[in-house]
Amino acid sequence: MTHNVLITGGAGFIGSRLVIALLKKDPACKIWVFDNLHPQVHGDHPATPEFGAGVTFVKGDVTDAHALTNVVKACNPQIVYHLAAETGTGQSYDEPTRYCAVNVLGTSHLIEALRTQTDVKKVVLAASRAVYGEGGYIDAKGIEFVGLPRQPETMASGDFSVPVPAGIELPTRPIPSHAGLPPAPASVYASTKLMQEYLLCQAGEGSPWDAVILRFQNVYGPGQSLRNPYTGVLSIFARQILSGAELAIYEDGNIARDFAYVDDIVGALVSAGNTDVKHGTIMDIGSGEPVTILDMSKMLMRALGKRDDALKITGAFRIGDIRYACANITAAREIMNWHPQISVQEGVIRLAEWAKTEFSNVQG
Ligand SMILES: NC(=O)c1ccc[n+]([C@@H]2O[C@H](COP(=O)([O-])OP(=O)(O)OC[C@H]3O[C@@H](n4cnc5c(N)ncnc54)[C@H](O)[C@@H]3O)[C@@H](O)[C@H]2O)c1
Repeated sequence: MTHNVLITGGAGFIGSRLVIALLKKDPACKIWVFDNLHPQVHGDHPATPEFGAGVTFVKGDVTDAHALTNVVKACNPQIVYHLAAETGTGQSYDEPTRYCAVNVLGTSHLIEALRTQTDVKKVVLAASRAVYGEGGYIDAKGIEFVGLPRQPETMASGDFSVPVPAGIELPTRPIPSHAGLPPAPASVYASTKLMQEYLLCQAGEGSPWDAVILRFQNVYGPGQSLRNPYTGVLSIFARQILSGAELAIYEDGNIARDFAYVDDIVGALVSAGNTDVKHGTIMDIGSGEPVTILDMSKMLMRALGKRDDALKITGAFRIGDIRYACANITAAREIMNWHPQISVQEGVIRLAEWAKTEFSNVQG
């Protein structure tokens, strides 16, 4: 069935590839992209994105309730993808009001705008694994628990381990995060992303639409802004490597992340929009494989044709950075028959090829 689709943040890294994927799946669908072309992501003088036939681009801000309502009325969507967000974990400490305005208030504006329409069936949220904080662990007795926040004083002494609650029996080991774990956001960004989930789930009760929550891990791939210093560790690293800088690796290099290739993320979004799921369903989306930042940096250096030792493990740390992140993708497999297609090795090669050509444009 052909749909009208609204994508907030649809000019961004994930959103712009989502537009292409939706048109490929259904060339007859009508897509509205609502995006403020944030200068941090798109530069100071961004060109109006050209998506081609079937796509209407509206420049606007989710903090502007009136503009959002107008685009919702014009689009009359059956499916809504909510991607517009402020996305920098570190930056969210410095600008909590802006993060709340865009991520939280922007979502409540969207909810009220959707109430002006009757055809909306599905709202898919680009959520984040950040809501888990330090994430899931299992103790010697097989008890699952959420790691406690790490303290700056302990980390400054070189101890990067994750504290455990009282009564937990050592040794412990991290486990891939799943929706059964209680949320424990460790940054302002994470708190605002959790609030987006709560708002959509609560407001969706008794409404004609179902909310689907996809908690993404670290998304990477061609198209991620090389100019935004606040997001996308691999894009930031690619830029630094290409400019000849030595990479500074935080902590002891053993921070682990689940790197999810952008087209796999887009595949999950498309599936979520087109699969019957219960209102409020949460799915974790990632590769399902943890990789340390040290190993990933070396892989990227080699893919960019550089020596893989131009790096320094600094012992420095950032408050709010978590130690281990990995998705348990069982729910997405079972509910949507979704599974990642691109290995990390292949994805890094694709990112490197793109970054080499893009780097000169960003410099210019
Ligand atoms: N990239 C990741 O690793 C990752 C991980 C977890 C969750 N997510 C979530 O996925 C979504 C998309 O992320 P992305 O990586 O494509 O980021 P991105 O910054 O490339 O895209 C976000 C888009 O939203 C737009 N935008 C920002 N503020 C806006 C506002 N106030 N009004 C309207 N548009 C606005 C930006 O111009 C941009 O085009 C976000 O909600 C993010 O929280 C991303």
